[in-house]
Amino acid sequence: MASFRAPRGTRDLLPDERAVFDRLQRIAAGLTQRYGYRSIETPLFEQAAVFERGIGEVTDVVEKELFRIAPRSEEAESWALRPEPTAGIVRAYVQHGMQTLPQPVKLTTTGPMFRYDRPQAGRYRQFWQFDVEAIGDPGPAIDAEIIELGHRFYTEAGVAGVEVLVNSIGDPACRPAYIAALVAYYRGHADVLPPTERDRLERNALRLLDSKDPAMTELNAAAPRITDHLCEACAAHFASVKAHLEALGVPFRVEPGLVRGLDYYTRTAFEFYVAGREGQQQALGGGGRYDGLVELLGGKPTPGIGFGLGLDRVALVLVEQGHAGVPADGPLAVVAGADPEDTVARLRVATDLRAAGLRVRADLGRRKLGRQLEAAGKDGAHFAVILGDELADGHVQLRDLLAGTQRVVGVDDLARELARAEQHHKHG
Ligand code: HAM
Repeated sequence: MASFRAPRGTRDLLPDERAVFDRLQRIAAGLTQRYGYRSIETPLFEQAAVFERGIGEVTDVVEKELFRIAPRSEEAESWALRPEPTAGIVRAYVQHGMQTLPQPVKLTTTGPMFRYDRPQAGRYRQFWQFDVEAIGDPGPAIDAEIIELGHRFYTEAGVAGVEVLVNSIGDPACRPAYIAALVAYYRGHADVLPPTERDRLERNALRLLDSKDPAMTELNAAAPRITDHLCEACAAHFASVKAHLEALGVPFRVEPGLVRGLDYYTRTAFEFYVAGREGQQQALGGGGRYDGLVELLGGKPTPGIGFGLGLDRVALVLVEQGHAGVPADGPLAVVAGADPEDTVARLRVATDLRAAGLRVRADLGRRKLGRQLEAAGKDGAHFAVILGDELADGHVQLRDLLAGTQRVVGVDDLARELARAEQHHKHG
């Protein structure tokens, strides 16, 4: 027999873990609503050019990690699964003329992303991001507002010790001179550069700074720093972002080596880490400003900023920090029956209770009543509704499985009785 498994680098979110993700999504939804973001959903795949242009051709994400969809015919468009949502959201902003709306347009989405990366702990080929984008505001105040929002997400999720690393990576005015300094520096060390990095040097030197190759660590630590090459406008912007963060009480550290792995970034760049785990690939989340991206994807020049927070990594850290999962909610009641054959009555009573808004499981097996009650207890049910002879005159037995008591209740009163018991239990 063939034995099938989830594809390498993907995993099933079984109910216990899915419950953790649900909780994280509820926190994200609550926060974004409070901060004035509206939800958007874009396709899980786009024209590959959206990513090639937006994220940049000479990046790990596009060069090595893009899940390309094999075209069905010669003339078919070339598609790829989204490795991140920003490029697709900006594509939608342009396509739907959102620049005519009041700016900034504040959008949020949460969902799976795909990168053909080498799988390891915390690095998957399908992973989840909570993403926000504010398009149409040049900052710097909104930069701090977004960083504070990201930081608050971790606090509300219960992750301890999250540190914010920030940097400015300049803009088209000051970056060329910096890149020239960087190229000169790496050329001076060409003999120790790994072949892929040597190859990238002339095409996209900035990417060497976020190389995952351990051989680059020392070299990168001593490389020229962008913060020493910022033009006046970028330096003033960065100073103001920091002043706003201080005013909001967000703990942050300036990390001059932080350049992010995607080409669209300008000025503000930031990442979230659990303190002491700043190693490559352990970022809980990251984001930054992308003032050239809207134009790059065919719109009018429009600034933007956003972040993507990795939910898989948040879930991992929560486990590492000793958080128990979300307790499973058992049913309030299980409807059981003395007559193993009478599944119609059990299903009918359960259906009425559900219609009244109650969490109810119907035991639809043909096992004996004792077994049904045993299973109800294991389910964590508070009550068993037992259908027997009394049903003929409209009554059932209501057993409180926790208290070990039992009484006769009219079928018509059942929903009200159970709802009252649930309220009492919740507040009692
Ligand atoms: P990113 O840094 O590429 O940024 O990804 C954001 C977060 O997604 C990472 O910090 C990490 O937590 C998570 N992540 C990335 N790759 C994986 C993976 N293979 N497995 C598990 N988790 C992963 C972006 O994607 C940008 N779109 C963020 C952004 C939004 N910038 C502006 N707006």
